[in-house]
Amino acid sequence: MSAPLTVLFQRQFRKYVLAAAAVLALIAGVLAGGSHASQAAGSLPCDIYASGGTPCVAAHSTTRALYSSYAGPLYQVRRSSDNTYKSFSPTTAGGYPDASAQDSFCSGTACVITRIYDQSGRGNDLTQAPGGGAAGGPDNLSDATAAPTTVGGHKAYGVYIAPGTGYRNDNTNGIATGDSPEGMYAIFDGTHYNGGCCFDYGNAETNNNDDGNGTMEAIYFGNIKVWGYGSGNGPWIMADLENGLFSGVNQHLNSGDPTVNYRYTTAIVKGEPNHWAIRGGNAQSGGLSTFYNGVRPNVSGYNPMKKQGAIILGIGGDNSKGAQGTFYEGVMTSGYPSDATENAVQANINSVNYGGTSSGGGNPGTLTPGSRISLQATTSCCTADYIKHDDNDTNVVIAGVSSSSSSTDKGDATWIVRAGLANGSCVSFESANKSGQYLRHQNYQLHLAGNDGSSTFTQDATFCPQSGHNGQGYSFQSANYTNRYLRHYDYTVYIASNGGSNTFDATTSWNDDTSWNVATPWS
Ligand code: AHR
Repeated sequence: MSAPLTVLFQRQFRKYVLAAAAVLALIAGVLAGGSHASQAAGSLPCDIYASGGTPCVAAHSTTRALYSSYAGPLYQVRRSSDNTYKSFSPTTAGGYPDASAQDSFCSGTACVITRIYDQSGRGNDLTQAPGGGAAGGPDNLSDATAAPTTVGGHKAYGVYIAPGTGYRNDNTNGIATGDSPEGMYAIFDGTHYNGGCCFDYGNAETNNNDDGNGTMEAIYFGNIKVWGYGSGNGPWIMADLENGLFSGVNQHLNSGDPTVNYRYTTAIVKGEPNHWAIRGGNAQSGGLSTFYNGVRPNVSGYNPMKKQGAIILGIGGDNSKGAQGTFYEGVMTSGYPSDATENAVQANINSVNYGGTSSGGGNPGTLTPGSRISLQATTSCCTADYIKHDDNDTNVVIAGVSSSSSSTDKGDATWIVRAGLANGSCVSFESANKSGQYLRHQNYQLHLAGNDGSSTFTQDATFCPQSGHNGQGYSFQSANYTNRYLRHYDYTVYIASNGGSNTFDATTSWNDDTSWNVATPWS
């Protein structure tokens, strides 16, 4: 027998009041304990979703536990030297993995991420994506050292997706199917994207094919304009609903969906019968904004939805794999999360301060080939300065860079560590925003220049790291002028010899000017 309407209303009302009270308590807890220091495991994202009545049914992160009680494995890597595997767990329940254990395991060899464990207990792990309708497979695996970061004061590694890389699970448990409600969030590197299809995280087809409109519901991040797009030049957070990336109700431009490119970007998509939303914000600080909240797209096939419940990361539903991006953490829920629940999750994300200083004292980057880094001066005048190339000439300088710098300045101050072009046990530095161009010296001054393959170039572009002369970070010895080291002098970068004949060889400040912190990359 069905309950009278008034009783149903009272039950519903009580459910919403209880859920709202739980979320308010969580927000209060998060704000009270919201320091950026290493946090004790209070309420983490999946604790918050559970309290809001929309529990996680998949929870993926290589950087931290997403439940306060979670102590199981976060991710697994395989090293190429002997093909052995190792999994990394939080060092305490609800905590962070030990990145130095990965550094030791991967020292002197390459490592790839082979598995991203599901923390929800449902076994929805992500592994190498198989081939699909759009492209053969299996896809490439992520370089395990290519996305260094810090979180909660700990060094950690994200999942770096170069084009061709992808993860998937076609045989899941508890993920929404049909028109059932679900929510999802992910934290991406808002400066790493492209216009290829499709850097996604979320719900996809279980057969790796394009099964038609409405057979997916995933977060997309990038600046492809083939389907929907938003205002500005992108990147945009959109929903991949299959045969279309949607930025709102229309098929093409929805100007309410803004360009979002925070270094650490929180991206949200959620859907329920004939209703869905896009939300996003800066993972490092501040709240979430709603970019779309309304009915399903005004094209046939998306209402009702026909979700199939596989999970993808870094690829499209049919294994389209032309996209790139970086993923740090993400979850999928059962049920349509309230904005208040998501706001509480965002407060927790803010509290762990992605990209902040690591407890190791500001040396979170590594000199492992493939890593993106920035090189920070250690002389007391100049600790806000980083090695950076000019845009109008080839000169290389030190200059201040901060979180509010332009994305060009951040890119100009970011380098990809390469095995030394002339000596594999040393390193070379490729520009992060001028592909194929390297730091090289010429007449003892540093310039940015394309690799012409000559032995002069490769030697001029190779530097051998040693412990920093002032006890901080590294000093970099020139491979072909071994009495010379990377040094800043009057804000220009040289290879200098201590007490030599040039003004930039001055002995004053020598130890400090030749010591560099390998810092979290600016882009
Ligand atoms: O919806 C956009 C993309 O189109 C999907 O990810 C893919 O399956 C199809 O090619």
